[in-house]
Amino acid sequence: MNSPPLTGQTTVPGDKSIAHRALMMQCLCAPNVSRTIHNLPPNADVLATLDCLKQLGIQSSEASNHSITLTTPNIWPLPPTAQPILLDAKNSGTTMRLLSGLLSGLNQHVCLQGDASLSQRPMQRILTPLSSMGASIQSTQHQNQQTAVAPLTLIPRETSHPHTLLKPLDYTLPIASAQVKSSILLAGLFADGTTQVTEHVPTRDHTERMLNAMGVPVTTKPLNNADGTGQTISITGPIQPLSSGTNFNSFPFHIPGDISSAIFLLALAAIIPNSQLKLTHIGLNPGRTGALEILKQWGADITITNTQTHHGEPVGDIALKYTPLSGDITLNHAHIPALVDELPILAIIAAFTPGTFTVSGAEELRHKECDRLSAIETLLSTVNIPITMTPDGFTIKGKHPSITSITTSPKTAPLQTFHDHRIGLCWHVLNHILQPNTQWPLDHPECINVSFPNFPDVLSQLTSSS
Ligand code: S3P
Repeated sequence: MNSPPLTGQTTVPGDKSIAHRALMMQCLCAPNVSRTIHNLPPNADVLATLDCLKQLGIQSSEASNHSITLTTPNIWPLPPTAQPILLDAKNSGTTMRLLSGLLSGLNQHVCLQGDASLSQRPMQRILTPLSSMGASIQSTQHQNQQTAVAPLTLIPRETSHPHTLLKPLDYTLPIASAQVKSSILLAGLFADGTTQVTEHVPTRDHTERMLNAMGVPVTTKPLNNADGTGQTISITGPIQPLSSGTNFNSFPFHIPGDISSAIFLLALAAIIPNSQLKLTHIGLNPGRTGALEILKQWGADITITNTQTHHGEPVGDIALKYTPLSGDITLNHAHIPALVDELPILAIIAAFTPGTFTVSGAEELRHKECDRLSAIETLLSTVNIPITMTPDGFTIKGKHPSITSITTSPKTAPLQTFHDHRIGLCWHVLNHILQPNTQWPLDHPECINVSFPNFPDVLSQLTSSS
């Protein structure tokens, strides 16, 4: 392999999941309250959330260095409008699902639309619980006459008052989804009593941690289920609008680097001999670090230093020094939430790692920005890496490239990204491993703007000394 190793230190754009929530939580503030958010990633998903908030009347002033100050207007929440306010979540499922919960509670008249990809993703998963809480939320479209999809319309329950109370809900998530959980918890802030969400497999808990850090109590209790992993999260409404007083002590807010972006650089450093990489100030929420654990199980030399807690979120520096990886890994449904966004890049690492990588229980990947299971098959088969697919997963028998039939240039061009940022980034990674001196053409190269627009620049900086 003659791919240039990654050496040096850098950081990655701010965490997308945390950024969406940090922005949306401005809606919980009292009139005229300002908060500053630092290290807001200027990616398309996060800008979609910011645009939606501006449409709703939140004021923003952008400062240098990815800092932004948000202010609630002097009447807030705004009284519902006669005509719906059109909000465009673009490609972002988190924007659409979390805002639906929050705006159910804020009694707003909105129509939430998305791009072609988001308009095919399932929304019944939030319509069912939010409707049970009394929200009037409807989908105007159904896919295959069955699954509700965007656009979604929220109709205010009482047009003369910004607040009418929702009903508290006791809900067990039918699928492991932090977006659904968060949507219900945010609506629960405006319910008359305690809303409880039970999850059998824990999902990322940014909403819970950030609300607690802002002084809004959210409690999590273990569920005594058979495998001991379940938990019930409770929130009691209605909350008082947050003022700048004592219950509002966690700002300015600094967003840590996104582990889901960091993993693309870590993957390259783990595969390319002589790499030595340090990524600073990365979010290490245990609901997000599943891929790091898998790298460690393969034998990666990973050291975490400088660990701290900011606004309830663990952060730290991740150093990875190349050492050959190997080992068999078997993942099932219980492992998926902590690495749900990292499975495409893990599949690529697996292809270059001696051992068998078997994944099951990952059917949720079929409902992401594209059908990611199918996209993983395309990624690997285009460069002749064998993969066996199942309805909810796949198996890869990985080998070092020097002893496989992996082709160094793809069979087809341009390469299919399926308009999915993580698949676009996977192509960049494969390109750098297999043919670093030739830039592979992607059908939609701009798709990486959704999470890591400057990936090619960061990669060329890290490889410039070799
Ligand atoms: C997210 C949760 C996950 C993840 C998505 C971001 C979030 O989705 O795939 O990229 O910010 O809550 P699901 O909760 O639908 O699995």
